[in-house]
Amino acid sequence: MVEYPISGVEGDQSFLEMLDMLNESLVEKGEEPVAFDHDCREGICGTCSLMINGEPHGPDRLVTTCQLHMRRFKDGDTVVIEPFRAKAFPVIKDLIVDRSAFDRIQQAGGYISVNTSGNTVDANAIPIEKEKADEAMDAATCIGCGACVAACKNASAMLFTSAKVSQFALLPQGRVEASDRVRNMVRQMDLEGFGNCTNTGACEIECPKGISLQNIARMNREYLWATTEG
Ligand code: SF4
Ligand code: FES
Repeated sequence: MVEYPISGVEGDQSFLEMLDMLNESLVEKGEEPVAFDHDCREGICGTCSLMINGEPHGPDRLVTTCQLHMRRFKDGDTVVIEPFRAKAFPVIKDLIVDRSAFDRIQQAGGYISVNTSGNTVDANAIPIEKEKADEAMDAATCIGCGACVAACKNASAMLFTSAKVSQFALLPQGRVEASDRVRNMVRQMDLEGFGNCTNTGACEIECPKGISLQNIARMNREYLWATTEG
């Protein structure tokens, strides 16, 4: 851990802008800047993964690190910033971790196969109940940030994986490959070294997109059906 004093921070600055300020001053002094991940800076890409004072994405609810403002802290505060910690998220440098384990879980089944030979059925031609469409959309808002893993005492990826399973399981287009999807994604999740869920619920509290624990329950049901059918 390294302590950096920083002055001139405005309340309206975002947390990442404060880190930019710090890095500019370090570069001016000829020192190595602090490496951290970021891209969209508007809560969409999920790359700004920081543990701030012991909480993934910091003290506010339903926001990412890039949406956190410095007015949330007091003048003179010491802010402790760490990378997300999990065996499956190895630290690359400083505050940057490798979250490609999530990509591999997604690649294991987070898609639907569609005939693109010219006979593709228009998705809008299939009626879907409003309630189901809303639930699928809610699950699809997961941005793959990894805060759920960082918040979990077991470093479980169940909230992430269950959101990805659910967004397809709730729609008719996703039912075709539902059994293979849940089996393959859960197998990959286990292979990556994530822990299991013990219903603590820290993931749901820290998730910037409010992904519900109900998705984990749905994934468990899907898994049970997939592994006991036939
Ligand atoms: S479930 Fe929430 S915390 Fe976990 S990766 Fe998705 S958006 Fe991030
Ligand atoms: S930088 Fe994209 S969500 Fe924060």
